[in-house]
Amino acid sequence: MPQPETAAEPDGYDRHRAPVAAARKAALLGGSAESVARHRARGKLTARERVTQLLDPGTAFMEVGQLAAHGVYDHAVPSAAIVTGIGLVCGRLTMVMANDATVKGGTYYPLTVKKQIRAQKIARENGLPCIYLVDSGGAFLPMQEDIFPDEQHFGMIFRNIAEMSAAGLSQIAAVMGSCTAGGAYIPAMCDETVIVRGTGTIFLGGPQLVQAATGEVVDAETLGGALVHTKSSAVADHLAESDAHALSIVRKIVSRSPTPPLAEPPQAPESPAEPAGRLADLVPDDPRRRIPARDILACLIDHGGLAEYRAGYGTTLICGTAAIGGFPVGIVQNDGVLFSESAQKGANFIELCCQRNIPLLFLHDISGFMVGQEYEAGGIARHGAKMVNAVSTARVPKFSILIGGSYGAGNFAMCGRAFGPRLMAMWPNARTSVMGGEQAAKVLSLVRQGQVEAKGGSFEDEERQAFEAPIRESYEKASHPVNAAARLWVDAIIDPTETRDWLTRALAMAAAGPKQETRFGVFRM
Ligand code: COA
Repeated sequence: MPQPETAAEPDGYDRHRAPVAAARKAALLGGSAESVARHRARGKLTARERVTQLLDPGTAFMEVGQLAAHGVYDHAVPSAAIVTGIGLVCGRLTMVMANDATVKGGTYYPLTVKKQIRAQKIARENGLPCIYLVDSGGAFLPMQEDIFPDEQHFGMIFRNIAEMSAAGLSQIAAVMGSCTAGGAYIPAMCDETVIVRGTGTIFLGGPQLVQAATGEVVDAETLGGALVHTKSSAVADHLAESDAHALSIVRKIVSRSPTPPLAEPPQAPESPAEPAGRLADLVPDDPRRRIPARDILACLIDHGGLAEYRAGYGTTLICGTAAIGGFPVGIVQNDGVLFSESAQKGANFIELCCQRNIPLLFLHDISGFMVGQEYEAGGIARHGAKMVNAVSTARVPKFSILIGGSYGAGNFAMCGRAFGPRLMAMWPNARTSVMGGEQAAKVLSLVRQGQVEAKGGSFEDEERQAFEAPIRESYEKASHPVNAAARLWVDAIIDPTETRDWLTRALAMAAAGPKQETRFGVFRM
């Protein structure tokens, strides 16, 4: 009898890639096949097709938040119903935000709002014009309390548009579908707005709401179609005949914007000493084994190598200047647990990069700071605080990549999410949580043991194992990159082999962006 074929389990680094690839496939599909067919039957391009047609042909789209909302809600919301990312339009780097109307009418879930605000933040920090390709039914009404009233909710999107416009960053909208209620403020607040005849509509209240509120019966086109807004209301400035036409008008507008075209690197890029293709093989199979930091670095930086800072001191933190794709960068990379010396060295190196205006790259593989009586007495908290202080206030562009574990205060010192990295990514093998699952299980079971023994009982081995197993499991799930990307704790999951290109683009963006002066706070000496 023929045996049924079973798919081979991926091995080596492909074990890490498989769940990321599955999540990515779901994100790229967008809404259901029926929904996509209905969308196309209206003569509309999908959100991803719109982005591709908008960008300069053949150039990369650096997607932000591709896996947002993956597995978070009780139904699928691919890419949180909005595609966001950085791409070139007429040679200028822009932030593109395209609602995906095939996912619940392009409505805003809590993570849609969070994702758009994150995209706007990246645009603001890096001086990118914003392009909004709007096709959305506004708030996802069943979740309005997590979307509407708070500071980081819907209103922030509109405030950001106004503030970025005031800062001279062009805000351009193309209305390519519905633009209802609060959503109407996106085109209305943008500097310049295009609307597509026949499919684009803008109104504060749709036909149903108007009928319910006033009794007036009116169809969508008459209420807020392209002709109304380009001939009568002046809510839009340009009339387009199709999606493709709208995108070509947006490109023209960007080509005349004050944003300068992307600059060449200041020095000639050189291939790294070791090929990027080796990177995945360098990651040990056993996550408890340390990643060989220097070998990884040799595959990432330009051949010229690292001008290492205090190579013989605080050796568990590698610091030094290098170039990636011809752009200068200050490297801060873990090579073991953080000690007082390594933290002080890190703080000093960050100061140095700020003084010289060199962007910082943090490569995390960190279980945390060294613990124990000797280290507490030696002031490890004080020295660690110095590094966290320097990371917090450094105003040079910071980029953060989790290449291994990123746990506890180690995550803070290495420029975790709260410390304002301009972009943050994770390798598929990386993990992040307050501590490792094994440690959390042990800590909690020791606490439980104390409670049981205080009542005169005993905490038997079998009971301990049953207690610890679900804690380990939940930490493993929560610390996984797909979970982190779904909740927008990181902007992207990038493969080790793509890391150099991703960083080159990130550094090019930062080099063209606005410069800020650093003012450090009080360091505990
Ligand atoms: N909140 C929650 N769900 C919404 C929604 C909203 N604001 N708007 C649409 N949806 C859902 C629909 O229930 C439908 O869900 P289903 O696929 O599970 O049946 C899905 O999104 C697609 O809606 P549908 O009306 O079938 O698609 P469409 O492309 O013909 O129209 C809209 C899309 C957005 C134009 C239309 O649904 C609409 O006008 N929605 C109301 C918009 C509104 O008044 N928003 C106010 C927000 S403050």
